[in-house]
Amino acid sequence: MEAWTPPSGPPKGPPPSRDIFAIMGEEAVFRMCRDFYVRLGASEIGHMFPADLEAASQKLACLLVGLFGGPPLFQSRYGPPALRARHLPFAIDQRARRVWLQCFEDTLEGADVTYGFPPAHLAAFRGFLSEFSAWMVNREG
Ligand code: HEM
Repeated sequence: MEAWTPPSGPPKGPPPSRDIFAIMGEEAVFRMCRDFYVRLGASEIGHMFPADLEAASQKLACLLVGLFGGPPLFQSRYGPPALRARHLPFAIDQRARRVWLQCFEDTLEGADVTYGFPPAHLAAFRGFLSEFSAWMVNREG
């Protein structure tokens, strides 16, 4: 099937604060992503993800470590992110995006306590996820 391109184009907003990594640390970023993927696996888009959710979650964790100001783990392990291209094999419509975002919202509930996520940077991170996920949508409807 032909991929659909969001008319809004690639994300234009700012990336997450690069101060986050120094505050959270690598272990908490990986733990947050693991918990997020457990939620994804149990959600209505769970079928899209591989059985080894923990391994899958580590790719997102590597990306976020770099975006949060830590070492560029994703690039050194997997190469250029090219995330829209990497998502094209999966049929992602607005509904799938909403489920993905809701799973992340649920994970971020109380994230300051659970993961030491700096509260001052939470709202901007939510905005980043919303905008970036819009760019991953590749099917109309
Ligand atoms: C719009 C909602 C989204 C859906 C439904 C979705 C779904 C998926 C799926 C099915 C995979 C493949 C998992 C695997 O086989 O290991 C994946 C991989 C990945 N996703 Fe998403 N994703 C979404 C948004 C995002 C966003 C916004 C980001 C970044 C902030 C992201 C980061 C990643 C990364 C880093 C990978 C690993 C890529 C690779 O190397 O294969 N995703 N996603």
